[in-house]
Order: sequence, then C-alpha cells, then structure tokens
Amino acid sequence: MESLVKDPYAHLHDEDYAKPFAAGRVQAANLITMAGRATVSLDGVWNFVIDPHDEGLRQRWYEIQNKSHSKDSPPLDYDDAHWQTTKVPSCWNTVRPEWFHFEGSAWYSRTFDSPPSSKKDRIFLRVGAANYEARVFLNGRFMGSHQGGSTPFFIELSANLEPLNNLLQIQVENRCRADRVPMNHTDWFNYGGLYREVCLVVLPAVFIQDFHAAWINEPARKEIQFEVCLSEPIDGVAQIELPELDQVFEMVLVAGKGVKKINLDFQAWSPDNPKLYEIKVSYGTDAILDQVGFRQIRCHGDRLLLNGEDLFLRGISVHEENLPIGKVSNEQTVRDMLRHTKELNANFIRLSHYPHHELVASIADELGILLWAEIPVYWAIDFGNPDTFNDANNQLQELIRRDRNRSSIIFWGVGNENHDTDARLSFMSRLAAAARKADDTRLISAACLINRETFQIQDRLSEVLDVIGINEYFGWYEPSFEGLSQLLNNSNPTKPIVITETGADALPGLHGEHSDRYSEENQSLILETQLKMLKKASYIRGISPWVLYDFRTERRQNSFQRGINLKGLIASDRQHKKISFQKVSEIYADWAKNCTTPVNKSIGKV
Ligand code: GCU
Repeated sequence: MESLVKDPYAHLHDEDYAKPFAAGRVQAANLITMAGRATVSLDGVWNFVIDPHDEGLRQRWYEIQNKSHSKDSPPLDYDDAHWQTTKVPSCWNTVRPEWFHFEGSAWYSRTFDSPPSSKKDRIFLRVGAANYEARVFLNGRFMGSHQGGSTPFFIELSANLEPLNNLLQIQVENRCRADRVPMNHTDWFNYGGLYREVCLVVLPAVFIQDFHAAWINEPARKEIQFEVCLSEPIDGVAQIELPELDQVFEMVLVAGKGVKKINLDFQAWSPDNPKLYEIKVSYGTDAILDQVGFRQIRCHGDRLLLNGEDLFLRGISVHEENLPIGKVSNEQTVRDMLRHTKELNANFIRLSHYPHHELVASIADELGILLWAEIPVYWAIDFGNPDTFNDANNQLQELIRRDRNRSSIIFWGVGNENHDTDARLSFMSRLAAAARKADDTRLISAACLINRETFQIQDRLSEVLDVIGINEYFGWYEPSFEGLSQLLNNSNPTKPIVITETGADALPGLHGEHSDRYSEENQSLILETQLKMLKKASYIRGISPWVLYDFRTERRQNSFQRGINLKGLIASDRQHKKISFQKVSEIYADWAKNCTTPVNKSIGKV
C-alpha cells in the first residue's frame, strides 16, 4: 500500500534527480529569426542563488513556489523572494567576490506580467546565451532546457502563462566536463550565468521562423537567392521588399518553405564598400526587417577571392571578454573592440574560440570587417562520444542559423588545435560536412596544428576544409625562427592558409631589451619577425596574431602572468596599447597601402 505520508527525505537518496529534465531540450531547429522584431526585455534585477549540489533540482524548488512558511507546512530551504540579487545579463563570477571561482549550478528567478497579446499569439522566451546548460521553469512547471554556452535559444511559454505575476526561474550550470564542448581544459576563464540578453517575443500563430538571403553562383552573375521558412508546414505567399533596389516580389511557400532567385543590380559588400540593403519579409501579420550585404567568398587554388578579387586577411584574434564584466558584451564594448581593430589597420578578426555576441557580426557588417566565427571544439574533445558530437553540431547549427545573413562572416571554423586522431578526423569531418550543408555560401575552416613528423603545414582534416588555419608560435614557445623558415619551405599546400595564431606574452609596461622575455620590446620583435617571414609565403592568405587583448586564464600562473594570458597587443584594461600594437598597425598599413602581399590585385576574376 502506498505510504500515506510522502517521505520528506526521499530526495536525499535520488541520484537520478536530473533525469526528468533531460527531455525538452531545444536546439537549432527551434531558433526564430529576430531581425527587426519587437521584444519585451526581461533584463534587469533577478533574484539569484548559487546551488553547488543541485538542491534546486533534487528538492524541486520550482514546485514549492507560493508555499508560505506557515506552521502547518514543512519548513522550506527555498525562498527565492529573499535570495541575493544580480543583474541580467551578467556573469556571476564578476558580481560578487565569493562567486568568482564558482563552477556549478545557480538559480535565477523573477516575476513578470504577460505581455499584451491576442488569444492566438504565441509567446516565447529568448535567452541570448547561458553558459553552459540552462533549464527553464514557469509557474512551477519545467518548460525546457538548452545545452551549449554561446548560442541563443527559444522556449515557448504560451500554454503556461498567467495574465499577471508569472514566476520565471532559470537554472544555469557551468561545470567543466570532459564530454562537453569545450571540454574541461581550456585556456580561457569559465564564466557562468545568463550573460546575454533575456527577453520575450510575441508572435502570431504562424510566423516567419527563418529567412536567408545570399549572393550565389559566380560574381559575374548578380543573382540573390532568398529563402523563407514558416513556423508551420502550410502553403502560402510571402512578400519580400528591397526598397533601395525598388524591388517588391512574392514568394510562393509550399509546406511552409520557399526559395526564389532574383537577378538584382546591387553593389557588392566589401571592406572598402560595406553596402547593406534593407530587406523586409512579411507573411500574414508577421514581418521581419534585416540589413543584408551581398558578397561572394570563394577559393581559387591557394587564393581567397572576395567578389572575384584576390583577398589578403590582415587580422587579429579576439576573445569575448571585458575583465570587469567577464563575457558580457554590449554595443559599447563591441564598438570599442572593432575600433581597435580598425586602428590596427586590420580587415579581419578571428572570433575565438566560440560564437561571440550577435552584435559583433551586425556591426562588422556596417564597418566592413571580415570575420572568422567558430565553435569551441577546442583541444582534447571527447571525439568518440556521439552526445558530444550532437552538442558540437547543434552549437554549429545554432551559430549558422543565427548569423548566416551577416556578410562580414566568411568562415565557419569547426575547431581549434585538435590532435590528429582517427576519431578527431571523423568527428570534425562530419562537422565540416554539416556546416557546408547548412550554408554553402561560406568557407569551412579549422585552426590546425603543423605536422611534426614531416614538419609541414599538413593535416588530414584539410581534405574536407576550404581554408586551413595554422597555429604556430615560433619565436615564443619554439624560440628559434629557424623552425618557421623550415616549415614554410617544406610546405606546399594547395589550399589557402591562414595563420590563425602566432604571438608572445608581454607584461604591459615592462620594457627592456628585445631579448628580454615578457618585455613589450620582445613581443614586438617576435610579431614583426613573424609577419615579415609569413608574408614571403605566397600560399599564406591571412594572419591573425594571438590576441587583441590580454585575457583571464587560470592556467597561467608565473610571476608575470598571475592568471592572465599576456599575448594581447592591448592590456586587459583595453586602454594600454603595447609597443607591438603600433608595430603591427604600421606593417598592416604598409600592406594595405602597397598591397605588398605577393599577389596581383585581382586574379581569377570570373
Ligand atoms: C593556443 C590556443 C589559445 C591559447 C594560445 C596561447 O594556440 O589556441 O587558446 O590561448 O595557444 O598559448 O596563448
């Protein structure tokens, strides 16, 4: 006979407490295009508590809402109305000293009134990013979860919304695990929390779920392909407008999908002419508004061609971090970073090692800066684990779905510095194929390591890549430049090479002889030597020195570093420019002005 009294201690013995929440995981297919949509912000002050041992899931805190501490109900270890508070978006590590090194679960909670909507409308929660796993509860019910620390997700709230005083709780967990992407060993700080914007979006019963516009085929033919996908598999007609090109046309949708190619007389988007066109797509009562640039990026042998013109990438790598606020980005921090990139006379940024805030690509579109976007398949990923592959692929698909209308992004990077094993080859080849299938208008890349046996730029993975990234630190981790000279002379790659990392540490303000390690002079000499040697290899079509800003990393603990990777050209305060910044900007300015890179201005013009 079932016990008459519920065992108040059962939760102490249930180690399967997380199982009920494994279902309901939202993924890339659930993403909704947000271009030009109105939203109801849920940013601001939330109640917050850390929960190192997942007490919230074990005792189902979300179920005990609205229970008072009255004498006839059991005492509660839960009372979110009286927790600490924090701002959203934020990383809990930077909010309170006692939360700085916290890795585990934490709970966010707030109330909100249902936004104005009609009976048939659908109301979704959008979270810009939560590192690493998030579980959403509304008015005492589990609504869904998301895995992956750098991409947005949507969870529908409609069926469970009350008109007033809805209780929204989000559990976020950022444990480092060997089966995650990234795994439990990286060279950057593991920030946790709801670190990008949280909002509600009200949509009609049938809405535009996805939209894509891209210049396809060859530069000689100015043909744009438009794709529209509805939230439901129904037939209908969408309308597409490009006011500046005086274009208004209809697109027939069958089972919710439509594709249309139109010849248009547009100006190609490029760093010299970052021309964007307003595109309005409407269906029924729904409409989206985007600003899209049309450009072509292709390979031609070992050359990169942008709109049929030979392209050389004067780049820099960057982490998403601003020390006082961790991984939080806003328009000011993004514009500051892009301004520094322009001051460097760079035309390219490698957004390392995970998807950055969507603002970066939007503003790079506006400013004409080319981007490499990537997923954190970093170092020793659990390449034999199918769940890990699904996680990596979902993060890749979410990145592509979110940003594929951004002309500034020319590469999808599927990994960084992964040891060449059969399992890694299979895992990353499948990622490359999945990226190409999702978007055949960009080049697929990865940051690879050199082949130590043949001492060449060579990696089995390059068979399935369009562009091969190479990380090498001659002059720093391998002090002699002789190795670089040997490597460049030994190699004869048939695809474009981008040196995706090279650099050296320098303690900001430490000056000395060029031979003094950790001096600004030493870093500057190493970068100058690298750039001048690399320029001589005609198959190198881009360089993105490591890294724009010094950044936090716990594995760097010598007397210079003290938890900071010092390879930045600018200190972590984003103010102090090291000597190397000026040196690189002079070299890039010379390359830009004199096109002294060893190629003609335009080849393979088709
Ligand atoms: C590696 C790695 C970076 C790291 C850098 C370094 O190439 O990709 O994430 O920070 O080296 O050693 O500083």
